[in-house]
Amino acid sequence: MRDLEGKVAFITGGGSGVGLGQAKVFALEAGMKVVIADIRQDHLDQAMDYFKDKDAAVHPVLLDITDREAYVKAADEAEKVFGPVQLLCNTAGVSQFGPVENATYDDWDWQIDVNLKGVINGIVTFVPRMIKHGQGGHILNTASMSAFVSTPGATIYTTSKYAVRGLSENLRMDLSKHNIGVSCLCPGGVNSNIHEAVLSRQKRYKNTGYYGADPEVFKQLKSAIDWGIDPVDLARIALEGIRRNDLWILPFPEFIPTVEESNRLVMQALRRYEDHPDVERRRKIMESRGL
Ligand SMILES: NC(=O)c1ccc[n+]([C@@H]2O[C@H](COP(=O)([O-])OP(=O)(O)OC[C@H]3O[C@@H](n4cnc5c(N)ncnc54)[C@H](O)[C@@H]3O)[C@@H](O)[C@H]2O)c1
Repeated sequence: MRDLEGKVAFITGGGSGVGLGQAKVFALEAGMKVVIADIRQDHLDQAMDYFKDKDAAVHPVLLDITDREAYVKAADEAEKVFGPVQLLCNTAGVSQFGPVENATYDDWDWQIDVNLKGVINGIVTFVPRMIKHGQGGHILNTASMSAFVSTPGATIYTTSKYAVRGLSENLRMDLSKHNIGVSCLCPGGVNSNIHEAVLSRQKRYKNTGYYGADPEVFKQLKSAIDWGIDPVDLARIALEGIRRNDLWILPFPEFIPTVEESNRLVMQALRRYEDHPDVERRRKIMESRGL
């Protein structure tokens, strides 16, 4: 989507960190109308405080992206305030790390429900609306470098982000006929508030094998990201990726050696079977069927 001026963006997790960076850049630098949707009223309030003396069209919506009915109402509200949405940013996400053997079902469900199913809820809510308004559109999914590499203690988060990676790649293939582009933004460290993500954990996921709202843990987690990219700089990169309709927006080349090693192992595993007799059998059938 090259021409963004005057278009409408709906950004989940828009009250903080990566999502707020996107709201700032899309509203103030790209001239878009922006809806910021967030589960935390305090994040929305702080964000709106930032925009109040700026010439920006930004509207806050309190939304838990795991609540499908509320999502429909939020989409209706966005359309009522600014008109049809052309850019959906599935940015909201949470993380909690620790030994996977300690994880409860609630620990799994929380991260999968927000990080993966929240993205799915955005797609199910907005894609039919985008197709209907016929103006084309774009979906920006924020995954993570955890969609490509594994980290000790991050099994649940990595599971959710790998899924968003696969979803994005296939979604792009399926939606191109509707003139809807899809990009997958995969940051490494971002200086955000994700260290205190458990504060947004819904009560229904109350059983945990991990930490709660512990300031000491928050401090340790923050030290792993406070050197990270500024969300506004990341959003400028994302904006260029959207304009070019890039599938992958991967601005962390520090990960090249790790991803190369991971890809090498995948290729090695595929090549191991190159001489297996069934490969030739399958090839002949496909050839005879013109596949
Ligand atoms: N910070 C990093 O180092 C980093 C690295 C890679 C990827 N990411 C991804 O970036 C995205 C944004 O995270 P961030 O780092 O800006 O964190 P953040 O905590 O600063 O912002 C996330 C926002 O999402 C909101 N949110 C949480 N659960 C929600 C829900 N159920 N419904 C609606 N809103 C909800 C939070 O209230 C918060 O305002 C996430 O998907 C995260 O996985 C972050």
